Amino acid sequence: MKSPKFLLPAAAAGVLALTLSACGGGGGTTGGGGGGDAEQGLDGRGPITYVQGKDNSNVVRPLVDKWNAAHPNEKVTFKEQTDAADQQHDDLVQNYQAKNPNYDVASVDVVWTAEFAAKGWLQPLKDKMAVDTKGMLEPTIEAGSYKGTLYAAPVSSDGGILYYRKDLVPTPPKTWDEMMQMCSIAKANNIGCYAGQFKKYEGLTVNASEAINSFGGSVLDKDGKPSLNTPEAKTGLENLAKAYADGNIPKEAITYQEEEGRQAFQDGKLLFHRNWPYVYNLATTEASSKVKDVLGMTALPGADGPGASSLGGHSAAVSVYSKNKATALDFVKFLTAEEQQKFFATQGSLAPVLGSLYEDKELVAKLPYLPVLKTSIENAVPRPVSPFYPAVTKAIQENAYSAIKGEKTVESALSDMQKSIESASAGQ
Ligand code: GLC
Repeated sequence: MKSPKFLLPAAAAGVLALTLSACGGGGGTTGGGGGGDAEQGLDGRGPITYVQGKDNSNVVRPLVDKWNAAHPNEKVTFKEQTDAADQQHDDLVQNYQAKNPNYDVASVDVVWTAEFAAKGWLQPLKDKMAVDTKGMLEPTIEAGSYKGTLYAAPVSSDGGILYYRKDLVPTPPKTWDEMMQMCSIAKANNIGCYAGQFKKYEGLTVNASEAINSFGGSVLDKDGKPSLNTPEAKTGLENLAKAYADGNIPKEAITYQEEEGRQAFQDGKLLFHRNWPYVYNLATTEASSKVKDVLGMTALPGADGPGASSLGGHSAAVSVYSKNKATALDFVKFLTAEEQQKFFATQGSLAPVLGSLYEDKELVAKLPYLPVLKTSIENAVPRPVSPFYPAVTKAIQENAYSAIKGEKTVESALSDMQKSIESASAGQ
């Protein structure tokens, strides 16, 4: 279990957001509520488009078909993006900037809410456009909100999981050091030991933050200010740099996003792999998977016990430029409804946002790791909440990447990270 002090930055970010919203005096206008565009199309009904990253687990298509069968005059077209988080982000930005009326509903990563809401691109989900969030896990609601207003309805959550080979590792490691010791097993079997997501993109921000948080450091302190020049942050990031230097993290892992890592693990080339819950479904059902019967899942390893995951996940947002917002809202409600949430879990092993589903006997029987996942999500540490998040994440990725590759010392990488985050937040 992670000590409560790791929760402080998250809690502080929440408090800060709420304070600002109170000063702004009235939700809709703070941080850009969409202005005139947010007032238009509220009663509009008709065909819409749903934009989301690659449907790896084939969960979106069946749901869109189900919706379309029931709504012949309000059909949804699924626009599928790539599986790379940064490309999905840039595609949304370009289309919002162009005021594309056809990006009616989009899947928004938890770290994009503040940026998109502040730009005025997302319809505030209140009044006529309100979505009922009762029963949803609190961190998922916070992640869809900006300055106290909900802008994106939680659809799926995400927490990091350590996948491992049950045939080679009888008892999974609880700490990072234990895991590193077990790398001798990988060597003896001529496979790589550990990989997460280490390419220079959002996934590296996730992994570097986890390394730092899991060793008692934090990207932000309790007042929401960067706090990277600490011995704890240093030990955390050093763990990744050392493992890369000594080969416990194989060299090719520096190019991995989620899908490359999953592939390597499924091909039997890794002993341990950090990834999200969606991997469980694919690794146990894809014909080509070599780890089907030997797949172990446990908490991420930390300093003296389980580590701290970064909070991931996606929410559905209605574009202020949509002309059919009444239909868009109904579709968002459909995605968040219990029946669809169950489908996401059983079909794609995605993490539901409804708390009750983690105790649902039928679901837990099918997906026995659900209670562990719920704890991971409840204790997960959000990445910084900022309308300038692109600059913040860039500061984390670029410096973590240089440190892992040994191009900068860990100390100077952290001090540069600190400076860049400070200047990114200066205008806030
Ligand atoms: C997953 C997470 C998301 C994160 C991304 C990084 O999709 O749900 O929050 O930003 O991975 O690649």
